[in-house]
Amino acid sequence: MGWREEAKKKASAEAVKHVKDGFTIGLGSGSTVAYAIQEIGKRIQQRKLRILGVPTSHQAMMLTVHCGIPMTTLNEHSQLDLTIDGADQIDRQLNLIKGMGGALTREKIVASATKQFVIVADETKLTEKLGANCAVPVEVLPFALPTVMLKMQEKGGKPVLREAKGKVGPVVTDNGNFIVDVDFGHINTPKKLDSQLKSIPGVIETGLFIEMADIVYVGTRVGTVQKLESK
Ligand code: 5RP
Repeated sequence: MGWREEAKKKASAEAVKHVKDGFTIGLGSGSTVAYAIQEIGKRIQQRKLRILGVPTSHQAMMLTVHCGIPMTTLNEHSQLDLTIDGADQIDRQLNLIKGMGGALTREKIVASATKQFVIVADETKLTEKLGANCAVPVEVLPFALPTVMLKMQEKGGKPVLREAKGKVGPVVTDNGNFIVDVDFGHINTPKKLDSQLKSIPGVIETGLFIEMADIVYVGTRVGTVQKLESK
C-alpha cells in the first residue's frame, strides 16, 4: 500500500473513533471514506454495536451492504448523530470542495442533517485557497444545461460538462442529473460564489461545502494524522 492509501486509512480510523453505540451515521462517498465504512462494519461485528447508516450514493450503499451495516433513510431519521465523508479540497477554515465522485447533492443533504460532520482526507487535499487546480462540481438539471452553462460563464467560470467513462455522453448522477465542473481559479469568497451558483435556475446543488465541517482528519505522508477543528 502506497503512502496515500495508508494516509486515507489512518485518517478514517481516527474518524471512526467518534462512532458510539446507538448512533445513526451518514456514510459519505469516495475512496477515503470507504476505509471508514469498512472499519464501522468491523466494529459492528466485533463489539455488537447498534448502528444505522444512511449512505450518500449507490457506491456507498453497496459498500454499506457489503460491510453488514444496517441501513436507514432520512424518512426514519431526519437528524443524524454523525456523518463521515471525504473531500476534494479543504482550506484553512475547513471549507470544502466536494463532488469529484458526483455524489455532492446527497452528500450535502446528509451533512446538513447531522450533528457532527467529520471529513477524512490525505494531505494532498489541503489548500490555502479553494479552487486552485480544482473545479467546482455542480449538479444541474439536464433540461436547464445550456442556460446554466451560459450563466456560469457570465459569473466568471469555465464550465465543462462531465463526460462519462464506459458510456457515451455525460455522467448521469444517482438523481438523474448532469455534473458540470466549473473552473473559477482561486475562489476568494466561496460563500458568495455558492449562493450565486445556487441562484441559477436549474442548479440543483454545488460542491462548495461552506462552514459545514466540524473536524477534518488529514493523513500525512510521514504517517501521522493531523486533526483540524472548526473555530
Ligand atoms: C464524492 C466526493 C468524495 O468525497 C470526494 O470526491 C473525495 O473522494 P476520494 O476520497 O476518493 O478522494 O465528494 O462526490
